Amino acid sequence: MSPARPEDAAALAALHALAFPPAEAWGADAMRLMLEMPGAFGLWRPAEGLVLARAAAGEAEILTLAVAPAARRHGLGGALLAAAMQGAILRGAVEMFLEVAAGNAAALALYNAAGFGEVGRRRRYYASGEDALVLRRDLAS
Ligand SMILES: CC(C)(COP(=O)(O)OP(=O)(O)OC[C@H]1O[C@@H](n2cnc3c(N)ncnc32)[C@H](O)[C@@H]1OP(=O)(O)O)[C@@H](O)C(=O)NCCC(=O)NCCS
Repeated sequence: MSPARPEDAAALAALHALAFPPAEAWGADAMRLMLEMPGAFGLWRPAEGLVLARAAAGEAEILTLAVAPAARRHGLGGALLAAAMQGAILRGAVEMFLEVAAGNAAALALYNAAGFGEVGRRRRYYASGEDALVLRRDLAS
C-alpha cells in the first residue's frame, strides 16, 4: 500500500470509476482537490483499491473507499480501512466518522466488522433518493 498523492489523481479517478456507478465516480480534478484539503491523506494499491480520509481537530472522516470489482473479497477493503484509521490516529484523531448508503450491504458489513456503529441517518442524502447512514468509531480504544 502506498500514499496517494495529488499527482496520482488521474489513476485514482480511473480506479474509483471501476468501483462506483458513473454518477458517483470522482474525476481527476475532484481527487486532486480532495487530496489537497488540509488534513487529507490517501492510501492506495494501484489498480486495486484506494482510501481517502481527513483528520482535523481530533476527528477523522473517511472521504471515499473503493476496491476494484476484480480485487474484492480478498481483504483489501478492510486493510485500506485499517490503514486509514492508523493514519488518522497518527494525525491525532480520537474518533472517525463516515457516510454510507443505507442499502450498501457490502460496505455496511465491512464497517460493522471494523467496529463502526450507526450514529445518525441523513434522509434522501444521495441523488438516487437513498438515505445515508452516519457511522462512527472510537479510535482511542
Ligand atoms: C465495500 C468494498 C470497499 C469492500 O472491499 P473488499 O476488498 O471486498 O472488502 P474485504 O475483502 O476487506 O471484506 C471485508 C469484510 O467485509 C464484508 N463484505 C465485503 N464485501 C461484502 C459483500 N459483497 N457482501 C457481504 N459482506 C461483504 C465481509 O464481512 C468481509 O469479510 P469476509 O470476506 O471475510 O467475509 C467494495 O465492495 C467496494 O469498493 N464497493 C463499491 C464502493 C463502495 O461501496 N465503497 C464504500 C462506500 S462508503
